[in-house]
Amino acid sequence: VLEPFCDAGIVYGESACGAASAYLSKILIKGGTVVNAHHQEVADVYIEDGIIVAVQNDIMVGDDVRIIDATGKYVMPGGIDPHTHLAMEFMGTETIDDFFSGQAAALAGGTTMHIDFVIPANGSLSAGYEAYVKKAEKSAMDYGFHMAITKWDETVSREMEVMVKDKGINSFKFFLAYKGSLMINDDLLLEGFKKCKSLGALAMVHAENGDAVFEGQKRMIELGITGPEGHALSRPPVLEGEATGRAIRLAGFVNTPLYVVHVMSIDAMEEIAKARKSGQKVIGEPVVSGLVLDDSALWDPDFQTAAKFVMSPPIRAPGHGKALQAALSTGILQLVGTDHCTFNSTQKALGIGDFRKIPNGVNGLEERMHLVWDTMVVSGQISVTDFVRVTSTEWFRKIMYFVLQGKVEVTISGGKVVWENDELKAVPSSGKYIEMPPYNYLFDGIGKTDAEYLSSLRAPVKRAVHTV
Ligand code: URP
Ligand code: ZN
Ligand code: ZN
Ligand code: ZN
Repeated sequence: VLEPFCDAGIVYGESACGAASAYLSKILIKGGTVVNAHHQEVADVYIEDGIIVAVQNDIMVGDDVRIIDATGKYVMPGGIDPHTHLAMEFMGTETIDDFFSGQAAALAGGTTMHIDFVIPANGSLSAGYEAYVKKAEKSAMDYGFHMAITKWDETVSREMEVMVKDKGINSFKFFLAYKGSLMINDDLLLEGFKKCKSLGALAMVHAENGDAVFEGQKRMIELGITGPEGHALSRPPVLEGEATGRAIRLAGFVNTPLYVVHVMSIDAMEEIAKARKSGQKVIGEPVVSGLVLDDSALWDPDFQTAAKFVMSPPIRAPGHGKALQAALSTGILQLVGTDHCTFNSTQKALGIGDFRKIPNGVNGLEERMHLVWDTMVVSGQISVTDFVRVTSTEWFRKIMYFVLQGKVEVTISGGKVVWENDELKAVPSSGKYIEMPPYNYLFDGIGKTDAEYLSSLRAPVKRAVHTV
């Protein structure tokens, strides 16, 4: 018998599973194979008012209970997408999926929570946060926030503390690319890492060398390459590898954990592998586009077809995706996001004649669970329990259920059926903001390694006496 997932011991279980009081609902999922991140077993799952109260065999219930037959199917925690951009203002336009349409897609694909990136407003964290609270008002599912840091001063430093202590944000993204807009330099990166460490917040990086990308773009334009293929050619894997290695080394220097978002290349993955092997606390997140696609479409003669595939870091040449899959299956990379950041054809057309103006971003929120299943589980690269870990519980152990076998049939969120028979049943403004506390497990032992580092410097205890 599996233990109930949403018990009092799971901090997030309460808020995640317990949108309970707003309505009464009783659901029995019968006869499915219940899977979590460490085991699987045929069992019934009984959910009352949004709380999973029993996971055992042959649960008997009354007439007032909705019964979902899951015989021959898997019953799994809802997916958590750790990387999305809904209603994001970017490259002169705003992503076409907002907090309702993007979430509708997520629920259709069995994802019941996502973490979106708050972009500061003119560098102000609090103004950015308020703007995203407004954007998210129409939410139909659980969501959380990371926050980008795009400039540095005393106010930003103070506001980071407010975000962690009062607003439930415990992860901050630093962009090493997008020169002239979101990009920051190493000076800021170090300040940011130090601040993250002092707050127990997780530092995240978009790792591409933005100065070199800028140079690469100039080269392509000079060569007369103005189409979407110029995007891939101007920012090759080596620039992702360089920035990943640099961010890892600087995080190691500060002694703070690092999360590398959208790992797209072998070059970046190998930097992460090396760091993890040396014992450094580095997490790598591949995204579905990087795992399952290659860059060939960027050479499609039809601009609209090619522009759909423009994101940063770019989708890579054949071979990179396979290597990223292998890294995911062996634990070098830990969890799968989407970087869902959608623009329609009119928006992508902003870059006709100059690939630098094509809004960067691809979809994935609806497709992620299916694609990871098809690519990783069906091929035997990961187990069904691994699937749950990399698509859901690795971000944190906040657990809900949905039913899946190749295709998502029913999605249950907060104890309510929100997707069934290819139909969305979730309503706007029923979603819930999930606060995330600082000091995750990656911070365990940091103080001890700090002490080791200081003693390795020997400076405070062993100063040389110089004679002149
Ligand atoms: O192309 C991308 N990845 N767009 C979204 C912004 C980001 O860098 O994550
Ligand atoms: Zn268990
Ligand atoms: Zn990014
Ligand atoms: Zn992103």
